[in-house]
Amino acid sequence: MERLDKVLANSGYGSRKDVKKLVKAGFVEIDGEKIKSSDIQVDIQKNKIIIKGEALVYKKYVYYIMNKPVDVVSATFDNYDKTVIDLLKPVDASFNPFPVGRLDKDTVGLLMLTNDGEMNHRLISPKWHVDKVYYAEIDKAVDEEDIKAFKEGITLDDGYVCMPAVLNIINSDATGSKVKVTVQEGKFHQVKRMFIARGKEVVYLRRIKFGPICLDENLNEGEYRELTEDEISILNQPRHLK
Ligand code: URA
Repeated sequence: MERLDKVLANSGYGSRKDVKKLVKAGFVEIDGEKIKSSDIQVDIQKNKIIIKGEALVYKKYVYYIMNKPVDVVSATFDNYDKTVIDLLKPVDASFNPFPVGRLDKDTVGLLMLTNDGEMNHRLISPKWHVDKVYYAEIDKAVDEEDIKAFKEGITLDDGYVCMPAVLNIINSDATGSKVKVTVQEGKFHQVKRMFIARGKEVVYLRRIKFGPICLDENLNEGEYRELTEDEISILNQPRHLK
Protein backbone atom coordinates (compact mmCIF):
# COMPACT_ATOMS: atom_id res chain seq x y z
CA MET A 1 0.00 0.00 0.00
CA GLU A 2 1.18 3.52 -0.76
CA ARG A 3 -0.16 6.98 -0.10
CA LEU A 4 -2.25 8.28 -2.97
CA ASP A 5 -0.49 11.66 -3.09
CA LYS A 6 2.88 9.91 -3.42
CA VAL A 7 1.60 7.62 -6.16
CA LEU A 8 0.14 10.54 -8.12
CA ALA A 9 3.17 12.78 -7.62
CA ASN A 10 5.42 9.92 -8.77
CA SER A 11 3.25 9.46 -11.84
CA GLY A 12 3.76 12.96 -13.12
CA TYR A 13 0.67 14.70 -11.74
CA GLY A 14 2.72 17.46 -10.12
CA SER A 15 3.94 18.08 -6.60
CA ARG A 16 2.16 16.70 -3.55
CA LYS A 17 0.52 20.14 -3.22
CA ASP A 18 -0.74 20.02 -6.84
CA VAL A 19 -2.03 16.52 -6.27
CA LYS A 20 -3.90 17.58 -3.14
CA LYS A 21 -5.69 20.28 -5.14
CA LEU A 22 -6.52 17.83 -7.92
CA VAL A 23 -8.07 15.41 -5.45
CA LYS A 24 -9.94 18.14 -3.56
CA ALA A 25 -11.41 19.39 -6.82
CA GLY A 26 -12.96 15.96 -7.34
CA PHE A 27 -10.88 14.86 -10.31
CA VAL A 28 -9.78 11.54 -8.80
CA GLU A 29 -11.83 8.35 -8.52
CA ILE A 30 -10.86 5.14 -6.81
CA ASP A 31 -12.84 2.02 -7.69
CA GLY A 32 -15.64 4.16 -9.09
CA GLU A 33 -15.89 6.54 -6.14
CA LYS A 34 -14.84 10.17 -6.14
CA ILE A 35 -12.48 10.80 -3.26
CA LYS A 36 -11.64 14.03 -1.47
CA SER A 37 -8.56 13.17 0.55
CA SER A 38 -5.10 12.59 -0.93
CA ASP A 39 -3.51 11.02 2.13
CA ILE A 40 -5.35 7.72 1.89
CA GLN A 41 -3.51 4.45 1.22
CA VAL A 42 -3.99 2.74 -2.12
CA ASP A 43 -2.91 -0.55 -3.63
CA ILE A 44 -1.78 0.25 -7.13
CA GLN A 45 -2.14 -3.39 -8.22
CA LYS A 46 -5.72 -3.73 -6.98
CA ASN A 47 -7.37 -0.30 -6.86
CA LYS A 48 -8.57 1.25 -10.08
CA ILE A 49 -7.41 4.86 -10.01
CA ILE A 50 -8.94 7.29 -12.51
CA ILE A 51 -7.70 10.86 -12.91
CA LYS A 52 -9.77 13.24 -14.99
CA GLY A 53 -11.46 10.26 -16.60
CA GLU A 54 -8.22 8.47 -17.48
CA ALA A 55 -6.77 5.38 -15.84
CA LEU A 56 -3.53 5.94 -13.94
CA VAL A 57 -0.46 4.52 -15.60
CA TYR A 58 1.82 4.02 -12.65
CA LYS A 59 5.52 4.29 -13.32
CA LYS A 60 7.75 3.16 -10.51
CA TYR A 61 11.04 3.48 -12.32
CA VAL A 62 12.23 6.04 -14.83
CA TYR A 63 15.24 5.80 -17.13
CA TYR A 64 16.65 8.81 -18.93
CA ILE A 65 19.57 9.21 -21.31
CA MET A 66 21.17 12.65 -21.32
CA ASN A 67 23.84 14.29 -23.41
CA LYS A 68 25.58 15.99 -20.51
CA PRO A 69 27.02 19.44 -21.23
CA VAL A 70 30.12 20.99 -19.62
CA ASP A 71 29.89 22.99 -16.38
CA VAL A 72 27.14 20.80 -14.97
CA VAL A 73 27.91 18.29 -12.23
CA SER A 74 26.57 14.74 -12.24
CA ALA A 75 25.09 14.82 -8.76
CA THR A 76 21.61 15.25 -7.36
CA PHE A 77 22.55 18.32 -5.33
CA ASP A 78 25.42 20.79 -5.27
CA ASN A 79 25.98 23.96 -3.27
CA TYR A 80 27.70 25.84 -6.10
CA ASP A 81 27.14 24.23 -9.46
CA LYS A 82 24.18 23.41 -11.62
CA THR A 83 23.44 19.66 -11.50
CA VAL A 84 22.15 17.30 -14.17
CA ILE A 85 18.91 17.12 -12.16
CA ASP A 86 18.46 20.88 -12.71
CA LEU A 87 18.28 20.12 -16.45
CA LEU A 88 15.22 17.88 -16.04
CA LYS A 89 11.62 19.04 -16.38
CA PRO A 90 10.00 19.19 -12.90
CA VAL A 91 7.72 16.27 -13.74
CA ASP A 92 10.72 14.10 -14.73
CA ALA A 93 12.69 15.20 -11.67
CA SER A 94 9.71 14.33 -9.46
CA PHE A 95 10.67 10.64 -9.74
CA ASN A 96 13.91 11.41 -7.90
CA PRO A 97 16.31 9.97 -10.47
CA PHE A 98 20.05 10.01 -9.86
CA PRO A 99 22.97 9.74 -12.28
CA VAL A 100 24.29 6.25 -13.09
CA GLY A 101 27.96 6.76 -12.26
CA ARG A 102 29.63 10.10 -12.69
CA LEU A 103 31.08 12.23 -15.40
CA ASP A 104 33.45 15.07 -14.48
CA LYS A 105 32.17 18.63 -14.66
CA ASP A 106 34.14 19.19 -17.88
CA THR A 107 33.24 15.82 -19.46
CA VAL A 108 30.34 15.72 -21.91
CA GLY A 109 28.22 12.97 -23.38
CA LEU A 110 26.19 9.98 -22.40
CA LEU A 111 24.83 9.98 -18.87
CA MET A 112 21.99 7.76 -17.77
CA LEU A 113 19.71 8.71 -14.90
CA THR A 114 17.33 6.41 -13.07
CA ASN A 115 15.66 5.77 -9.75
CA ASP A 116 16.15 2.00 -10.17
CA GLY A 117 18.86 1.12 -7.65
CA GLU A 118 19.33 -2.43 -8.91
CA MET A 119 19.84 -1.34 -12.49
CA ASN A 120 22.28 1.31 -11.31
CA HIS A 121 24.30 -1.28 -9.42
CA ARG A 122 24.44 -3.63 -12.41
CA LEU A 123 25.67 -0.85 -14.67
CA ILE A 124 28.38 0.57 -12.44
CA SER A 125 29.72 -2.50 -10.66
CA PRO A 126 33.04 -3.61 -12.25
CA LYS A 127 31.87 -7.18 -11.56
CA TRP A 128 29.50 -6.99 -14.53
CA HIS A 129 32.25 -5.77 -16.91
CA VAL A 130 30.07 -3.16 -18.57
CA ASP A 131 32.02 -1.30 -21.26
CA LYS A 132 32.11 2.49 -21.09
CA VAL A 133 33.43 4.00 -24.30
CA TYR A 134 34.94 7.49 -24.49
CA TYR A 135 36.08 9.67 -27.33
CA ALA A 136 39.08 11.66 -26.13
CA GLU A 137 41.47 14.27 -27.44
CA ILE A 138 44.99 14.12 -26.07
CA ASP A 139 47.65 16.84 -26.02
CA LYS A 140 50.44 14.64 -27.43
CA ALA A 141 51.03 11.76 -29.81
CA VAL A 142 49.59 8.42 -28.68
CA ASP A 143 51.34 5.25 -29.86
CA GLU A 144 51.53 1.47 -29.78
CA GLU A 145 53.27 1.58 -26.39
CA ASP A 146 50.23 3.35 -24.93
CA ILE A 147 47.90 0.76 -26.46
CA LYS A 148 49.98 -2.01 -24.89
CA ALA A 149 50.07 -0.27 -21.49
CA PHE A 150 46.28 0.19 -21.50
CA LYS A 151 45.85 -3.48 -22.40
CA GLU A 152 48.13 -4.62 -19.59
CA GLY A 153 46.50 -2.39 -16.96
CA ILE A 154 47.64 1.14 -16.19
CA THR A 155 48.90 1.88 -12.67
CA LEU A 156 47.33 5.12 -11.43
CA ASP A 157 49.00 7.75 -9.23
CA ASP A 158 47.62 6.12 -6.06
CA GLY A 159 49.03 2.68 -6.99
CA TYR A 160 45.69 1.27 -8.19
CA VAL A 161 46.15 -1.08 -11.15
CA CYS A 162 43.34 -0.60 -13.67
CA MET A 163 41.53 -3.46 -15.36
CA PRO A 164 42.69 -4.00 -18.96
CA ALA A 165 41.37 -1.24 -21.24
CA VAL A 166 41.21 -0.87 -25.01
CA LEU A 167 42.81 2.15 -26.64
CA ASN A 168 42.09 2.82 -30.32
CA ILE A 169 43.91 5.59 -32.13
CA ILE A 170 41.73 7.55 -34.57
CA ASN A 171 44.59 9.85 -35.56
CA SER A 172 47.76 11.01 -33.92
CA ASP A 173 50.75 13.26 -34.54
CA ALA A 174 53.11 15.43 -32.50
CA THR A 175 50.44 18.12 -32.08
CA GLY A 176 47.93 15.77 -30.43
CA SER A 177 45.67 12.77 -30.89
CA LYS A 178 42.09 11.66 -31.20
CA VAL A 179 41.38 8.31 -29.58
CA LYS A 180 38.67 5.97 -28.37
CA VAL A 181 39.06 4.38 -24.93
CA THR A 182 37.00 1.50 -23.57
CA VAL A 183 37.09 0.86 -19.83
CA GLN A 184 35.02 -1.40 -17.60
CA GLU A 185 35.30 0.51 -14.35
CA GLY A 186 34.68 4.06 -13.23
CA LYS A 187 37.36 5.26 -10.85
CA PHE A 188 37.51 8.97 -10.10
CA HIS A 189 38.93 10.82 -13.17
CA GLN A 190 39.87 7.40 -14.52
CA VAL A 191 40.53 8.13 -18.19
CA LYS A 192 42.34 11.39 -17.43
CA ARG A 193 44.53 9.66 -14.83
CA MET A 194 45.28 6.76 -17.17
CA PHE A 195 46.73 9.22 -19.67
CA ILE A 196 48.55 11.17 -16.94
CA ALA A 197 50.24 7.86 -16.03
CA ARG A 198 51.52 7.86 -19.64
CA GLY A 199 52.75 11.49 -19.38
CA LYS A 200 49.85 12.83 -21.49
CA GLU A 201 46.82 14.96 -20.89
CA VAL A 202 43.18 14.58 -21.90
CA VAL A 203 42.01 17.93 -23.28
CA TYR A 204 38.48 16.84 -24.28
CA LEU A 205 36.42 13.90 -23.10
CA ARG A 206 33.03 12.66 -24.28
CA ARG A 207 31.34 9.41 -23.31
CA ILE A 208 29.81 7.86 -26.40
CA LYS A 209 28.61 4.46 -25.18
CA PHE A 210 27.57 2.82 -21.93
CA GLY A 211 27.09 -0.95 -22.19
CA PRO A 212 24.73 -1.49 -25.13
CA ILE A 213 23.42 2.11 -25.09
CA CYS A 214 24.94 4.63 -27.53
CA LEU A 215 24.87 8.39 -27.18
CA ASP A 216 21.83 9.57 -29.13
CA GLU A 217 22.98 11.79 -32.02
CA ASN A 218 19.64 13.61 -31.88
CA LEU A 219 20.28 14.91 -28.39
CA ASN A 220 22.09 18.22 -28.21
CA GLU A 221 24.24 18.83 -25.15
CA GLY A 222 21.92 19.47 -22.22
CA GLU A 223 19.05 17.48 -23.76
CA TYR A 224 17.69 14.14 -22.60
CA ARG A 225 14.94 11.65 -23.35
CA GLU A 226 13.43 8.57 -21.75
CA LEU A 227 15.04 5.28 -22.70
CA THR A 228 12.81 3.26 -25.04
CA GLU A 229 11.16 0.01 -23.92
CA ASP A 230 13.69 -1.88 -26.08
CA GLU A 231 16.66 -0.12 -24.50
CA ILE A 232 15.33 -0.81 -20.99
CA SER A 233 14.71 -4.45 -21.81
CA ILE A 234 18.29 -4.85 -23.14
CA LEU A 235 19.65 -3.29 -19.96
CA ASN A 236 17.64 -5.79 -17.94
CA GLN A 237 19.36 -8.72 -19.64
CA PRO A 238 22.81 -8.98 -18.10
CA ARG A 239 24.23 -10.96 -21.04
CA HIS A 240 23.56 -7.93 -23.24
CA LEU A 241 25.28 -5.46 -20.98
CA LYS A 242 28.62 -5.54 -22.77
N1 URA B 1 37.17 9.41 -16.92
C1 URA B 1 37.47 10.68 -16.55
O1 URA B 1 38.62 11.02 -16.36
N2 URA B 1 36.47 11.55 -16.44
C2 URA B 1 35.17 11.24 -16.67
O2 URA B 1 34.31 12.10 -16.55
C3 URA B 1 34.87 9.92 -17.04
C4 URA B 1 35.88 9.02 -17.16
